[in-house]
Amino acid sequence: MNMLKFLCFVTLSTPIFGAFNPKDYGPKLAEVIEHLHVECSILTGATDPEIDNIKNGNFDENNKHIKRYNACLWLHSDAFIPSDDGVPSLHGNKNLFLDIEPPKLKGKFAKMFMRCIDEARESGEKNFTVLAWNATNCLHRTDPENFVYP
Ligand SMILES: *[C@@H]1O[C@H](CO)[C@@H](O)[C@H](O)[C@H]1NC(C)=O
Ligand SMILES: *[C@@H]1O[C@H](CO)[C@@H](O)[C@H](O)[C@H]1NC(C)=O
Repeated sequence: MNMLKFLCFVTLSTPIFGAFNPKDYGPKLAEVIEHLHVECSILTGATDPEIDNIKNGNFDENNKHIKRYNACLWLHSDAFIPSDDGVPSLHGNKNLFLDIEPPKLKGKFAKMFMRCIDEARESGEKNFTVLAWNATNCLHRTDPENFVYP
């Protein structure tokens, strides 16, 4: 393999911003992603490099910023069906996921979120930050190539 071919190979096979291309989000998901990214960065102080680590599947257990950022995403996204007392029900808001489902992940996206939310709720974890962290881990583990992260 000559040097140029080698460089092309390395460039093409190195994921930079997670594997699912933002071009393929579709307008609704793109808006949700942008809004959550901005809002939760401001609220938690998580930096873009810290967030990119998650996109690439590197979950740093000891990074408090990124754990808070991650909890913020789940809380601020209407991902859970609201309950009467205002506490997140921990039941996934399937209609939301179907509504923002990117065309390329039709039939997959909502299903994956619902399954990981069910898994997190059924684990009985009481700490929301930990529960949200585990739910995100589940999404990445389930389908790293189609992992979408704000
Ligand atoms: C959540 O994930 C952590 C590792 O990040 C693990 O130690 C813990 O057992 C998980 N909790 C549940 C309830 O699955
Ligand atoms: C929940 O877990 C987070 C992350 O491990 C930790 O920083 C926080 O103190 C915990 N909250 C409670 C109420 O235990």
